[in-house]
Amino acid sequence: MQNFAIVSFGCQMNQHDSDRMAEVLKRAGYRQVEDLDRAQVILLNTCSVRDKAEHKLRSEVGRLGVLKRARADVVIGVAGCVAQQEGERLLKQLPQIDLMIGPDNIPELPELLAAQKAGGTPVVRTEFDLDRPNFLAHALLDGDGDAAPSAPMAATAFVTVMKGCNERCSFCIVPHTRGPERYRPSGEILDEIERLARAGVREVTLLGQTVNSYADPSRRLPVPADSSADQTQKAAWKHTKSDRARLDESEFSALLRAIAERAPSLARLRYTSPHPRHLTRSLIRAHQDLPVLARHVHMPVQSGSDRVLKRMIRRYSVAEYVERVEALEQAVPGLTLSTDIIVGFPGETRGDFEQTLALVERVGFVGVFGFKYSPRPFTPALKLGDDVDEAEKSRRLAELFELSNTLRQRHLASLVGSEQLVLVEGRGKGEHWSGRTERNEIVHFSGEGELGRQLVRVRITQANKNSLFAVLVAPHAEAPPGSSKGPRRLPVLSV
Ligand code: 5AD
Repeated sequence: MQNFAIVSFGCQMNQHDSDRMAEVLKRAGYRQVEDLDRAQVILLNTCSVRDKAEHKLRSEVGRLGVLKRARADVVIGVAGCVAQQEGERLLKQLPQIDLMIGPDNIPELPELLAAQKAGGTPVVRTEFDLDRPNFLAHALLDGDGDAAPSAPMAATAFVTVMKGCNERCSFCIVPHTRGPERYRPSGEILDEIERLARAGVREVTLLGQTVNSYADPSRRLPVPADSSADQTQKAAWKHTKSDRARLDESEFSALLRAIAERAPSLARLRYTSPHPRHLTRSLIRAHQDLPVLARHVHMPVQSGSDRVLKRMIRRYSVAEYVERVEALEQAVPGLTLSTDIIVGFPGETRGDFEQTLALVERVGFVGVFGFKYSPRPFTPALKLGDDVDEAEKSRRLAELFELSNTLRQRHLASLVGSEQLVLVEGRGKGEHWSGRTERNEIVHFSGEGELGRQLVRVRITQANKNSLFAVLVAPHAEAPPGSSKGPRRLPVLSV
């Protein structure tokens, strides 16, 4: 039997792709190993969203070159966004690589590897599946006994609902590496989630590059009863007027409602990554109505300056972003927000950056993923230059993190003494368990017996830098929120 190992970089979408690659290979008779020295096939699943990620790949390939000189039979494959972006070019530059495979070609992996093993020449396979988009589900769901995972399902799982991106944010390479938006039929999504829930999964995160632009290609989702209200309210959120009609009329909220109904044993439903343009009234209402939706949303804002947002082609203003997230916060008491921010975008002045800091403070993000702008090939922003020098980018990033750390600390400290429902994800050493609250704070506590995948009630005793300590109040105490009908309840009691 052949061994394979996967080294994964980048976003959740990539992690999900890595898991699916592993399943495709296991089904073809390969065995997964952690140790690269024991693998006959090594796959690097890459990310190209920032150049740092790409540098990592290059150094990893260099390192593997040494291994390959010692063991000529090892096949080295590069998958993911760098493969899609660089294709032939990288193959020429890095002769250690045998195979480049794009995100949409994962099902062909066994065949391509077999050709390599048989002495084939290095190959590039990076075709988008535009006509018949393919969405790989968890192996457990394929009815294929061999591929079923031997360990019990984890408490949490990712489910893809769409892929690709039709936005044209000027800094972003994703439309190039992942192609145009393609949506998964709602029936497939609902089936996968129902079966995951039956296998014991308690939390599902819906995945997509602009996940909340979802539209059902099979047109099977019910039209929400209140869709006419959305039409009349469009004028209030004025930037939607100029958008093509469908764009504000995503069916994401209808999908969320259908999931909540179909999988009532789910304790939590999350999604990533949404675009603020599709944070519509109907989505806010879904948050209000569905207790299963986590009380946390990651909503990338990128900048707090209208001038910069315009140059980024984000298609919303700071005021529109704030209006929307405030409406969401009002609809869901206790909801927290996190965001992505790019510092040092071309033309960003000190003044622009200070507006970003002001926005972060005003919204009170409990998590900020901050990045220094890095020029990417094939992106419109290339022609804007890269005029904020590296040292200044680093200073701005450090300032941003200082502020966001303060905000996170303040938030975590405010939870000390409160009771929270925690979905237990795993066990540390001894009797230590860890899990997450419905807002996503990581909680560590001790407790006897098997608590994995349970919703337990804890009292928070201490705030750490990025997590909380707690004591167990009641194991198995709570029916999952998804099982309660009617409008959502107020936040978990504070004492
Ligand atoms: N430079 C820096 N950060 C970037 N991101 C995307 N493209 C770039 C780039 N060229 C960041 C954005 C996005 C996150 C996933 O990565 O903030 O939301």
